[in-house]
Amino acid sequence: MTAIDSTDARFRPGSRERASDTSAESDTAPRRVSSHRTYLMCRPEHFTVSYRINPWMHPQEPTDTRKAVEQWTTLYETFVRLGHDVHLIDPIPGLPDMVYTANGGFIIDGVAYGALFTYPQRAPEGPAFMEWFGQNGFRVVEPKQVNEGEGDILLVGTRILAGTGFRSSVESHRELAEVFGREVVTLKLVDPRFYHLDTAIAVLDPLDGDENANIGYVPAAFDEASRRKLEELYPDAVIVSEEDAGILGLNSISDGYNVVIAKRAVGFEKQLRERGYNPIGVDLSELLRGGGGVKCCTLELRR
Ligand code: ARG
Repeated sequence: MTAIDSTDARFRPGSRERASDTSAESDTAPRRVSSHRTYLMCRPEHFTVSYRINPWMHPQEPTDTRKAVEQWTTLYETFVRLGHDVHLIDPIPGLPDMVYTANGGFIIDGVAYGALFTYPQRAPEGPAFMEWFGQNGFRVVEPKQVNEGEGDILLVGTRILAGTGFRSSVESHRELAEVFGREVVTLKLVDPRFYHLDTAIAVLDPLDGDENANIGYVPAAFDEASRRKLEELYPDAVIVSEEDAGILGLNSISDGYNVVIAKRAVGFEKQLRERGYNPIGVDLSELLRGGGGVKCCTLELRR
């Protein structure tokens, strides 16, 4: 996997430079272009696993908060070195899952649709994130329906993919369509390991309209009808193995060229390289104990 060097032009947003050490890329792979992003993250100072709301969580097993902070810091520094802006929300004691900022809301064009969490353990995070959005210049839309933000709501091109089955309600998909006036495609999750949509789908080319928009996904996460919908919408999608998806390899962040993924997802890494992307592996093993990976720790702020 590629080591990051901040002086390397490849990692600067908008850069079209290609490095010489990417010989694994096929000659036919399209040229990918990164674009500048803004993210919201939360230092896992109070991270632990004290309750179980997904099958990854084992409260009886000890967690190492220091290690979680260290691993998280590597992710934070990776985004910064790639040239992206990262904002931070203050962690709140007693909210150990607040590190998973993807669940804090869903934002397009400066409008922040807030989260309404499924489980009471995370409920106070909803207002905390909405307060941050309001204080930082976003127009906040308070949700009436249960939804867990970008965990279940993904912007792909101009289209919104929305997950349901474990957390976010179908009613929230209708609310979303009203708030943003965009097409919302409902996808039903059926495998409890992939309880949020961002554990089953990776958004790869988000910014240049629907034509080139592409995703990676694990078909086993979805019911039959949703699988068919995905095949129809993204015939060129990267089909990821259950092995890679099963360590939350799909839970990743792409800027159009650089794709920050779980270090252990070596099959997905290879697939991305073949397609002309630049996968960058990070190890978030401690945060995986809460059932989250790269994407869960990252909320995209779109002005
Ligand atoms: N423990 C958290 C929960 O179950 C993990 C959230 C992961 N976030 C995500 N975007 N998939 O809610």
